[in-house]
Amino acid sequence: MARKIFVTTALPYANGPFHIGHIMEYIQADIWVRFQRMHGNELHFIGADDAHGAPIMLKAEAEGITPHELVARIAAERPKYLQGFQIAFDNWHTTDSPENVELSQDIYRRLKLAGLIYSKPIEQFYDPVKGMFLADRYVKGECPNCHAHGQFADACEECSIVNAPTDLINPYSTLTGAVPVLRTSDHFFFKLSDPKCVEFLRQWLNEPGRLQPQVTNKAKEWLDGAGDKALGDWDISRDAPYFGIPIPGAPGKYFYVWLDAPIGYLASLKNYFDSGKAEANGESRSFREFLAAPDSEQIHFIGKDIIYFHTLFWPALLKFAGSPYKIPDHVYVHGFITVSGEKMSKSRGTGISPLRYLEIGMNPEWLRYYLAAKLNGNVEDLDFNPDDFIARVNSDLVGKYVNIASRAAHFITKHFNGALR
Ligand code: MSP
Ligand code: ZN
Repeated sequence: MARKIFVTTALPYANGPFHIGHIMEYIQADIWVRFQRMHGNELHFIGADDAHGAPIMLKAEAEGITPHELVARIAAERPKYLQGFQIAFDNWHTTDSPENVELSQDIYRRLKLAGLIYSKPIEQFYDPVKGMFLADRYVKGECPNCHAHGQFADACEECSIVNAPTDLINPYSTLTGAVPVLRTSDHFFFKLSDPKCVEFLRQWLNEPGRLQPQVTNKAKEWLDGAGDKALGDWDISRDAPYFGIPIPGAPGKYFYVWLDAPIGYLASLKNYFDSGKAEANGESRSFREFLAAPDSEQIHFIGKDIIYFHTLFWPALLKFAGSPYKIPDHVYVHGFITVSGEKMSKSRGTGISPLRYLEIGMNPEWLRYYLAAKLNGNVEDLDFNPDDFIARVNSDLVGKYVNIASRAAHFITKHFNGALR
């Protein structure tokens, strides 16, 4: 029987264009999707932009535009890349959509009914000039350990120690330079540490073939952590001003971007069904029917940096939200692409520009082949090396595949009058 599979790739932050890491992920998933289709399976390949969060809000503000305008500008660029590399998503949507508001609020209400949401006061740095609570990455100061200046709390560049933002000496807001003050506000939490969540996750993780063994091990480490590594509950709310989805019944509170981001997979799927595209692709059921059906599968392709979200929070949210939501069948994880052995860095401008690759007339199939040849089922980083790339394309694609075709053509001409029958 044909498998019916809903496949996603991680939703890219909508504050910048695609980089080669995104393209690699999409190529991996696109090849898998094509392979499944060749086997006669029904595939729905879904993507979207991850639009919410403080960085996007602040970037838009710095440019003097609304977050919606920023997100729309980035979204307008997406097709050039996707078409250029022959990546055929069946739908591309955004987390900043009515579907996502509806689904996120629905899931939240169900979790609340399930007794898995609670609130408690949290004390946090607040920028009195900006009028905004500061995530750790917006606070710098002097390291209390080595006294290096201008350090973030989460990892001192000099001595690598992890500090709490409140331990920094002479802290300042990176947004305004103001001295942050401590302020208390109520935050909402998802009770990941609840025994029923832990029990469910243990079962989900242990399902044979569910995840790559490395991924299962990593997730189990987190699940079984003790002491200061014990599994914590998840802070899912942020205070205004925030670019996000309002929490029902809690004025001035928004869902943390990582709560509504994976729900964006379902929002894009819903948009795909409601717009008639699913039907055109051979699926006549409705969004809810498809989702609730025992024979439909939900599969996510992601990179190694977001395993925690996809193997702990996400399955637990879906499980306890209940039908029609379904738990993910598989989460397939890849490593990171480096370029000539170097980590890509947006600030240093390293990496290879996917658009530049296309503009200078390089064939997208070369990159697709190269990545396919180097990727495997392990969570390993992979290096793009220009010399290796040229050698692989010449020896494998030209030297082997094209050579076989050309020799076959020669035989056919010589011995069979140029015809196959
Ligand atoms: N917005 C979140 C994902 C939300 S999913 C509900 C996010 N966005 S991202 O733009 O930072 O990353 C998107 C995907 O690209 C992730 O799967 C990430 O692992 C992947 N990659 C980012 N850099 C990469 C490489 N250098 N190499 C390969 N993939 C990488 O995380
Ligand atoms: Zn230090």
